[in-house]
Amino acid sequence: MTEARSLAEAPGPRGHWFWGSIQERRHHPLQLFLDAHQQFGDLVRLRMGPAISLVSVASPELVKHVLVDNPTVYGKPPSLLASAAPLVGNGLFSSDGDFWKRQRRLMQPAFHKERLAGLTHLMVDSTQHMLSRWQARSSASEPLDLAAEMMRLTLAIVGRALFSTDVSGTADRVGQALAVALEGTNHRLLSLGLRAPDFVPTSRNRAFRDALSTLDSVVFDIIARRRAGETHGNDLLAMLMAAQDADTGERMTDQQLRDETMTLFLAGHETTANALAWMWHLLAQHPEVEARARAEVESTLQGRPPTFEDLPRLRYLTQIFEETLRLYPPAWIFARLAKKEDVLGGVRIPASPRVIVVTSPYVVHRNPRVWPEPERFDPDRFSPERSAERPRLAWLPFGAGQRLCIGNNFALMEAPLITASVLQRFRLRSVPGHAVRPEPLITLRPKGGLPMLVEPLHAQA
Ligand code: HEM
Repeated sequence: MTEARSLAEAPGPRGHWFWGSIQERRHHPLQLFLDAHQQFGDLVRLRMGPAISLVSVASPELVKHVLVDNPTVYGKPPSLLASAAPLVGNGLFSSDGDFWKRQRRLMQPAFHKERLAGLTHLMVDSTQHMLSRWQARSSASEPLDLAAEMMRLTLAIVGRALFSTDVSGTADRVGQALAVALEGTNHRLLSLGLRAPDFVPTSRNRAFRDALSTLDSVVFDIIARRRAGETHGNDLLAMLMAAQDADTGERMTDQQLRDETMTLFLAGHETTANALAWMWHLLAQHPEVEARARAEVESTLQGRPPTFEDLPRLRYLTQIFEETLRLYPPAWIFARLAKKEDVLGGVRIPASPRVIVVTSPYVVHRNPRVWPEPERFDPDRFSPERSAERPRLAWLPFGAGQRLCIGNNFALMEAPLITASVLQRFRLRSVPGHAVRPEPLITLRPKGGLPMLVEPLHAQA
């Protein structure tokens, strides 16, 4: 067996003698990772100042080693979990170990396809609401921010899926509080500790605290009313409340219900909304793809609203969404720390909080060995035949292994239903002269929103 190399010997850009690649990481992260892999191969080391190293892996084989084959070695970084904790507490995304395992077991059944089938009508209904609002606009020549529209829509959907109410009346308040809380959490995650501590009453800290308390009061109130029998619903909250640990018979406390619903609320809308926004952008750039999508919708639905049963026949719409997730994966990077020393791609990875192993779906999805002409938008890549030829982990917008997204089926159901409903009534066009660029924060968003022209296909009935 060949000797493993030390981390210092791993390939990667030299960067600045002291700061390494920290400036590039801050200002052009996507390019930094892409260039480094193009130049140095499937495993690269990027120095972030004198103390911290990122080890980035870009091949399906190395991704499998980290995310699938060695879950006991590679865990989520505690500092990342701590940054997310004020908002999502000890929910599924941020918990770890036995507690996480128990919660995942309790929650998994709620996300099986058959259970989710019951939610499709509310996905379509919420979309029709949005479309009626679009139809009632006085002028179609005013652009609409599709990123904001998709955010509002997916928030309404996940709210109804969780609680059976559109958190009515409070929807805007909740939406605003969520936006502030999310921005605050982004800031915590990205500032790497260089921010004012929580007790300092900066305007950002105060706004963050106020947003959290608004969200808490809405969610705890919903839980209390449900427990008191004032509300009913065959929704995710009901499933979480009924879920019982097979060994101990325990159910979730109010605090756990709060943490899990807040997690689903957040994880369940922003990612999907960004992916849908990117999809509308790509469709507007590729009229031939849009025409084929429209033809599929017309021949499958013949003017009626889509249902769960239609999903297998809306195959091309699903492929469009999958190809969008390849080019613009909303969770564009995720991190792990080795809990014990390991050898990864021939390089010794120490168990140290200063060596962060990252996987970027944005980069893996552009590996030219697996994806010829990686920048080209081509939904036919996801035909069943071509998908079968690829290594499974060549495409991982939902992560992989134990911590695979629990909501992947939810998103893969929601997206084609929304797409079909919109295509039945509207045509979306790019705004001439507006450059669309990705902004890689925690999620990959269109920078500054996505203004688009929204033209009704038919005059209002
Ligand atoms: C296109 C849409 C979505 C994308 C791209 C996405 C992506 C991801 C990724 C990459 C992870 C794993 C992160 C890691 O391993 O570090 C994850 C986890 C998670 N996602 Fe999603 N997600 C989407 C939609 C949803 C939806 C709709 C829900 C819920 C309704 C959801 C709930 C969650 C939860 C709870 C976790 C944590 C799971 C665990 O650790 O056990 N996601 N998601």
